[in-house]
Amino acid sequence: YGTFPNGFSWGAGSSAYQTEGAWDKDGKGLSIWDVFTHKKGKTFLNDTGDSSCEGYYKIKDDISLMKELNLNHYRFSISWPRIMPTGIRSDHVNEKGVNYYNALIDELLEHNITPIVTLYHWDLPQVLQEKYGGWQNISMINYFNDFANLCFERYGDRVKYWITFNNPWSVAVEGYETGEHAPGLKLRGTGAYRAAHHIIKAHAKVWHTYDTQWRNKQRGMVGISLSGDWGEPVDITNQKDIEAAERYVQFYIGWFATPIFHGDYPQVMKDFIGRKSAQQGLGTSRLPTFSSQEKSYIKGTSDFLGVGHFTTHYITQKSFPSSRGYTYFSDWDVAELVDPRWPDPGSEWLYSVPWGFRRLLNFIKTQYGNPMIYITENGVSEKMMCTELCDDWRIQYYKAYINEMLKAIRDGVNVKGYTAWSLLDKFEWDEGYSERFGLYYVDFRNKNKPRYPKASVQFYKRIIRSNGFPNQREVENWRRKATETCSTSNQLLAADPLTSHMEMVTEVVVPTVCTLCILISAVFLMFLLRKRN
Ligand code: NOJ
Repeated sequence: YGTFPNGFSWGAGSSAYQTEGAWDKDGKGLSIWDVFTHKKGKTFLNDTGDSSCEGYYKIKDDISLMKELNLNHYRFSISWPRIMPTGIRSDHVNEKGVNYYNALIDELLEHNITPIVTLYHWDLPQVLQEKYGGWQNISMINYFNDFANLCFERYGDRVKYWITFNNPWSVAVEGYETGEHAPGLKLRGTGAYRAAHHIIKAHAKVWHTYDTQWRNKQRGMVGISLSGDWGEPVDITNQKDIEAAERYVQFYIGWFATPIFHGDYPQVMKDFIGRKSAQQGLGTSRLPTFSSQEKSYIKGTSDFLGVGHFTTHYITQKSFPSSRGYTYFSDWDVAELVDPRWPDPGSEWLYSVPWGFRRLLNFIKTQYGNPMIYITENGVSEKMMCTELCDDWRIQYYKAYINEMLKAIRDGVNVKGYTAWSLLDKFEWDEGYSERFGLYYVDFRNKNKPRYPKASVQFYKRIIRSNGFPNQREVENWRRKATETCSTSNQLLAADPLTSHMEMVTEVVVPTVCTLCILISAVFLMFLLRKRN
């Protein structure tokens, strides 16, 4: 029990492709996710983000939800192809797209909600993928820098928190190594390392651009958002397990954080990937290298560190036979295990292990010189396809994880803000709409995509109002009240399919029947007239 430091910032988040919809509206170009999801077999039930939550049309509605929660900040991302349809500034800047984000930012500020803006949440312009191979190609660095520069130019008078990349681990590994995400490439053993190398350089370049051209005038901050699971040794008395767990975290968050804070890749990555590359008979390591100039250019390029965190694994040492090929996942020589007692209400990979959060935060503090941290994502999903607004397990998850963050702050970790992931249920990448992370339920069956508060809204709102956890009795009370109110909303929502059904009757069935009647009468009349003649 206890409160967070004064001025601690409470927020919720989203990303463009996951919520905006309007994939081809007002001059927006294609992103790699538009193209990927339009191919069969890439996502759960072939779901796409074509309309998603229709966030593009619902700025005011969604800000009223944020007000209901009393949020201090809202984290969203800018779709690169919405404002630069081909990804290339000199080709075309789409003013309608630019204005959508202007409207969103203005409306947030009007309501005293600070925008935290991500520049890249995975939706690369398709043209850049087709022409150059996306993040495999070094030319992305300059294209991304041009895009970032336009954003600073157009929005930087009002936006003071910039995140260059969201979770580059996923971009690199799932986009270019396993191919589960767009652009779906399976360049095992090399693709992820090469993509990450260019992303790190692109991040550094954008930070320098801000630093030299905009910082004086705009007085904002530029950081990166890294996601990392915590890895705990299976046996804390076994040196091999301890080393394996350390390696796991280094291959995850350290892969990006070490160059950004210290100038180069973690030694353990250099050692392991270098050794395996030699075993393979390669003359150089599959992990690219930075020149000494690049090292000093990259070092120190984050004004704050964004941290996305969801889960923990137990880790043990495991060697992979070379006959199975050389991949990112065999390079690290680890195996992940879970405790069957850990709750896992939603995504297959997401076990609720709150203490791992505190350990990860302490690891970041000691490894990277106690940087300023914003939690950019933390939350839990549900698998249920049926409607359930009484999300007691989400209340438990938030309560426990936020509490571990409070302990970490008392340990001396410099956490300045927390972003619940996510404001709304939304498109969950290759899992389509089957995993719901939202504080608000979105009825995707209804074309108006109405939002309904889950019980966790009531709970999170009270944490925000009290800036923490006042005392046991009160916190228990919050939970009780939250679960009481949700059942009424549940009934409302249960009635909703009926409403959608009625809409279908008036919008589709009635006009179709009328048209058919007219056609049949016309044919009948013609028949009568012919008979007469
Ligand atoms: C991290 C990603 O950044 C976000 O887009 C996604 O919704 C969450 N993981 C949950 O899978």
